[in-house]
Amino acid sequence: AAQPKILKQSSYAKEELEQYIANTRPELNLRYRLHYHVAPPVGWMNDPNGFSYYKGEYHLFYQFYPYDSVWGPMHWGHSSSPDLVNWKTLPTALLPDQEQCFSGSAIVDGDTMILMYTGHEITDKEPYYNETQFLAFSDDGVAFTKYAGNPVLPAAPNGSPDFRDPKVWKHGKHWYVVLGSKTDDNRGRVLLYRSFDLIEWEFLRVLGESTGDLGYMWECPDFFELGGKHVLLWSPQGMEPNGDRYKNLHQTGFIIGNFNYNNFEFVQETKFQELDYGHDFYASQTMEKDGKRYVVAWFNMWEVPHPEEVDGWAGAMTIIRELVLVGDRVLQKPLDKMISLRDESVINGQVDENQVIELGHTGEIIISGDLEKKIELLVEGRNGGGQALLRWDPEVGKVVVDRAGDVRQVEWSPIGSHSWRLFLDASSLELFCGEGEVVFSSRVYPDGEWNLTNLSPQTLNVEAYKLKRSVP
Ligand code: FRU
Repeated sequence: AAQPKILKQSSYAKEELEQYIANTRPELNLRYRLHYHVAPPVGWMNDPNGFSYYKGEYHLFYQFYPYDSVWGPMHWGHSSSPDLVNWKTLPTALLPDQEQCFSGSAIVDGDTMILMYTGHEITDKEPYYNETQFLAFSDDGVAFTKYAGNPVLPAAPNGSPDFRDPKVWKHGKHWYVVLGSKTDDNRGRVLLYRSFDLIEWEFLRVLGESTGDLGYMWECPDFFELGGKHVLLWSPQGMEPNGDRYKNLHQTGFIIGNFNYNNFEFVQETKFQELDYGHDFYASQTMEKDGKRYVVAWFNMWEVPHPEEVDGWAGAMTIIRELVLVGDRVLQKPLDKMISLRDESVINGQVDENQVIELGHTGEIIISGDLEKKIELLVEGRNGGGQALLRWDPEVGKVVVDRAGDVRQVEWSPIGSHSWRLFLDASSLELFCGEGEVVFSSRVYPDGEWNLTNLSPQTLNVEAYKLKRSVP
């Protein structure tokens, strides 16, 4: 279980850090900079953290290392939004002290916003790190003070040093938290605790555990009600590839079941399923507002090239999606509000075989064709690069995303709509099939603006727009 290694120490106090960010920003090369996906102002980003709603705004924090575009001692970067589509950058919320600020979540208690996160401390004994849980408070959602009595949860029941990524929620009079950890013989698991005050925690039980085939360590667990069921969503490290499945280095997926707050038993009803089938989707986090469950994920993968790294930044968030349970599937739907990003219409009508559609650095494309026949689309940069083939083959019943030979594919049986909705940004694609029963999120790096070519042996109906910028 290799932990990312430390590359540089942070060197600035809070005010100097904001100055450093402001000074460094103009130096970024913007060729791959995303127009409507949250990305770090400078430097490195990984997991979404603290996804929440506080005093009229949505908040999205993230694992952040400002001093280089590779992973380093973790801070929490911070963005906020009125609508989950338009985002602005706020000052860095957490800076490392003795502890690095690893992933965690946010909750609101009265007028206070509370972050619960993992303090990752370097030690001088094997395995040279230790993980405990920390709190930080804010009265304005901008400035955070770490709790003086940290850590509030000092050790996993078996003493495992891997004990991280608290996701907190409230039910009745209690706060509950799930944490990612592992058994002594390296099987990933999720631990469930509860508390009256977020300070004293009672260990309740192991909510889920790998029997061996679900990886050696479970990261970023999330547990929530959806459509009358409970969903355990998490990121297991180290699952073996199996046919079309689990082809990324690490996975993000879910199990559906029933949860009983009297005995804290989670009775699983489905097997592990990936939430997204693309190349770049990890460490997802959800939040609930007005009965809707929203998800966001890190739009990258560990230990693969991040081509924007040389440009002074690396990493992004996916667009926010709504989760909906239908049978044993969890659908991911783009938000209605995404329509407000539509700028110039590029085409609305028939596109013949081999016809090329010229988009901008961004595009939203709705595609429908005859699913009895093949569908094949090529996206690529106008000047090269960024090639991906999106394919439907009725003979095998699978949707394929072939990113320059690196293939992800999965069976698709539409439950309603037969259309595809494709979002292109300056270095990404997100393909939503049908009602969101199959979704692929992949980073792709075009040279220049996008071209989309219909390689299908049929005429398609296509509605396409360029999109506006909604992030700084
Ligand atoms: C997941 C993860 C978390 C950890 C964080 C460190 O990508 O490894 O388990 O808290 O990243 O940046």
